[in-house]
Amino acid sequence: MKSLHVAMLGCGVVGTEVARRILENGDDLAQRTGARLELTAVAVRDADKERPGIPAELLTTDAQAAIAGADIVIELMGGIEPARELILAALRSGASVVTANKALLAESYGELMQAADSAEVRLEHEAAVAGAIPIIRPVGDSLAGDRITRVMGIVNGTTNYILDQMDSEGWDFDTALRTAQELGFAEADPTADIGGHDAAAKAAILAAIAFHTPVTIDDVDVEGITGVTADMIETARAQGFTIKLLAICEELADSPEGPGVSARVYPALLPRDHVLSGVGGAFNAVFVEAEAAGELMFYGQGAGGAPTASAVLGDVVSVGRRKVLGGRGQYERAVAVRRPVLPISA
Ligand code: NDP
Ligand code: HSE
Repeated sequence: MKSLHVAMLGCGVVGTEVARRILENGDDLAQRTGARLELTAVAVRDADKERPGIPAELLTTDAQAAIAGADIVIELMGGIEPARELILAALRSGASVVTANKALLAESYGELMQAADSAEVRLEHEAAVAGAIPIIRPVGDSLAGDRITRVMGIVNGTTNYILDQMDSEGWDFDTALRTAQELGFAEADPTADIGGHDAAAKAAILAAIAFHTPVTIDDVDVEGITGVTADMIETARAQGFTIKLLAICEELADSPEGPGVSARVYPALLPRDHVLSGVGGAFNAVFVEAEAAGELMFYGQGAGGAPTASAVLGDVVSVGRRKVLGGRGQYERAVAVRRPVLPISA
């Protein structure tokens, strides 16, 4: 069977889960990809740090050397630089790239996509919005023949976790934030979460692909949850409301400046029986409204190492398949198909 060389940039909350799964589930992933995914190097800042399940010989602090000769580069270091330069270098060298880096995509989407197109390789980023939830492909591909008019929902797990714990358990803001960090939901710098900028980056990416127009984080109106107090949550609850950080991207047919699109992020009051009020913990939920399809809803784990690794690995298998099979899946029988054991009804 053919092998594909895979290099990773970053081995933190998400990277550790991705690397471990590539190493432990090699046979399954090879069957689905049509090639063995051979992890060749993992670039980190501190190569001496203990990383359970990751062989020390794969770790390097030389990120440029790590990506040399790779067929697929997985970028999970976060931040703008050096991630941007490394992704561009990988694309130009002929590698396909998978990234979860919404901060970078919300700033440089057009530049990165053009680099991928020029090099005739893929740049995939399903994990950049809403963790495990498939939303980039549904909005960007599956609905590409329809006309999307609105995308809205909860797209930041950390703030949803904080607001939910404050509301349901009476926790204070700092305890809830600290726990979200310990659980691996928060960004390396959590001010991006609580200030609304992480949700704004995701709103920019969703708006860009939903409305086929360049939207960057600078185009998004942002208000985070730092001003939300326990008293506000209590008052909202007493009046039958929850407070949720929403991202809303929509077509504006009749704005005073003429037609266009807008994207905004803000803490909203929702009736407690609204479906988004029931989205607890670090879960995310996104509604998409399209002319022909009508309303669609996507729901699932929006943050954390394992859920995000699921989306990253889906992209890795997808770009791997393209490289070896021209995009087709593997349909040879891998496991036996059996009749279900049905319970005997009374
Ligand atoms: P972490 O901070 O846990 O991990 C970052 C990793 O990148 C670390 O291994 C770090 O090395 C390495 N790194 C950082 N800078 C450099 C550098 N200059 N050179 C080499 N290595 C570097 O981040 P996460 O795993 O949480 O997030 C990774 C990406 O995934 C980010 O873009 C984030 O926004 C995105 N994301 C995260 C989700 C989550 O739930 N955590 C969900 C969806 C997306 P070292 O370990 O040595 O410090
Ligand atoms: N910090 C992000 C969040 C990670 O809490 O949603 C997932 O993108």
